[in-house]
Amino acid sequence: MLVDVKNLRHTYTQGVTTINVLNSLNLEVAPGEFISIMGASGSGKSTLLHILGCLTKPREGTYRLGETDVFSVTSNELASIRAQQIGFVFQMFHLLPAMSVLENVKLPFLYNNTPAKTAHERALEALQQVGLSSRTHHKPMELSGGEMQRAAIARALAVNPELILADEPTGNLDSKTSLEILTLFQKLHTNGRTIIMVTHDKDVAHHAERNLFLQDGTFQ
Ligand SMILES: Nc1ncnc2c1ncn2[C@@H]1O[C@H](COP(=O)(O)OP(=O)(O)OP(=O)(O)O)[C@@H](O)[C@H]1O
Ligand SMILES: [Mg+2]
Repeated sequence: MLVDVKNLRHTYTQGVTTINVLNSLNLEVAPGEFISIMGASGSGKSTLLHILGCLTKPREGTYRLGETDVFSVTSNELASIRAQQIGFVFQMFHLLPAMSVLENVKLPFLYNNTPAKTAHERALEALQQVGLSSRTHHKPMELSGGEMQRAAIARALAVNPELILADEPTGNLDSKTSLEILTLFQKLHTNGRTIIMVTHDKDVAHHAERNLFLQDGTFQ
């Protein structure tokens, strides 16, 4: 398994109230799978994705990513896992407006000491994979929504991560552009990428190979 999560439990505390978000959640993802996670608003999809992305530590549970027992490594090791093994794609793209597309795609290399020339080549390669070679020197504001998301996907792909996590990646796109992005995910999946995509849209979810539904803190 690439991802092996067992007995995950997570709560948020605000003042005197405690919200139980995830409870007794298990998840196994084989390398190369394309999975969708659906669930109502507030059901904990983003929380789970943050945990899988090593951004949040849950109250309880174990998480193996490849050979690593994620919750038992040091924070330095965790930072390096985040930088090398995980690519994030968000609903709002999160591109830096002052930088060109190419510079945005090169950003993840800042965190793993990659030589500039290699970073440059791999960023161009990632942009080619998402069909954005002709837009490398544009600023994000000069792109269409679909192009912005493709640039963000290129940035997620650039370091060649084992796992791609996408939180509502088509949430800000019209249906035609959404389809374009989903087709791209399917292509990446065909090329062996492992993708976990959160969505509240059934039609979007069905582009994945396996559909999971989050309810009452766990998969139904
Ligand atoms: N940092 C936080 N502090 C306190 N409560 C939080 C925090 N983040 C999320 N929550 C609460 O935890 C629950 C799960 O939130 P989460 O963002 O994971 O849901 P979601 O399934 O992604 O929802 P949506 O579909 O609306 O994006 C919600 O009730 C939310 O209010
Ligand atoms: Mg969310």
